[in-house]
Amino acid sequence: MSAVFEVHDLVSLYWEKGPFDLIVCRNVLIYFNTQLQDKVFSFLLEKLKVGGIIAFGSRESVFYCQDFNQLEILDQDARIFRKIG
Ligand SMILES: C[S@@+](CC[C@H](N)C(=O)[O-])C[C@H]1O[C@@H](n2cnc3c(N)ncnc32)[C@H](O)[C@@H]1O
Repeated sequence: MSAVFEVHDLVSLYWEKGPFDLIVCRNVLIYFNTQLQDKVFSFLLEKLKVGGIIAFGSRESVFYCQDFNQLEILDQDARIFRKIG
């Protein structure tokens, strides 16, 4: 297993890599309006394997995103979820 660090603009909604086992996206969605948050959220879920873990910032309101039903809550306060479908 290896880690690769690279710059990526989430707003492009394009990333050739993935799907990933783990996505940590803390305190980034807060910069976007609600519509863009929803798009980026769905994009991140597309890039996450079923069974993979995704984490957001503890104050981010991801519960209202369109594809939220693809996630199981592991830690609500810490905004840590597992993709179930
Ligand atoms: C408040 S910092 C959070 C840093 C870190 N994730 C944390 O929780 O400590 C917000 C981060 O969002 C990144 N960011 C803002 N717009 C972005 C975009 N369109 N694509 C990717 N990252 C973005 C910024 O570069 C910055 O690193």
